[in-house]
Amino acid sequence: MKPFTKLLLLTSFLLGLSTTAFAAEKYDTKAFRTATKLCYSCHGTPFYLAKQLDDDDWDFYFNTKGKLEKIHKGKPEAISALRSPLFKKRKERLLKFFIANSMYAGAVNGCDANFCGTLH
Ligand code: HEC
Repeated sequence: MKPFTKLLLLTSFLLGLSTTAFAAEKYDTKAFRTATKLCYSCHGTPFYLAKQLDDDDWDFYFNTKGKLEKIHKGKPEAISALRSPLFKKRKERLLKFFIANSMYAGAVNGCDANFCGTLH
């Protein structure tokens, strides 16, 4: 192999690597979709919901036993969302997602297939 070809190959390899890293998801899309499914009808997009609280508050609501159910008392749709197997399965992921996108987290999300800048 000519040195130039080697260099070219190396360059395209490195470019490929950095493109892959760059294209990596900036947020947990699975958590995003779960929150859309379970919470959107009342709270708007998951990013909007996430920004309503700071990280401590998210932790508090998610990790205080019965707290989420108590806030949503009298809202059957919310209660059934909270009791759904999907919510239980993804609870930790949802909490991480909400914290990562919370009030002071500084997360600003641009357009992608799931989301395009609308808040509500
Ligand atoms: C049926 C509508 C409905 C659904 C579905 C719903 N919520 Fe709510 N939620 C509300 C309402 C209304 C309040 C305000 C209650 C109050 O302030 O008394 C609220 C309040 C909250 C709060 C307290 C902080 C705040 O913003 O007032 C959190 C946290 C929250 N919801 C999380 C969730 C999550 C997470 C989901 C999805 C798993 C969800 N909710 C689904 C209606 C809903």
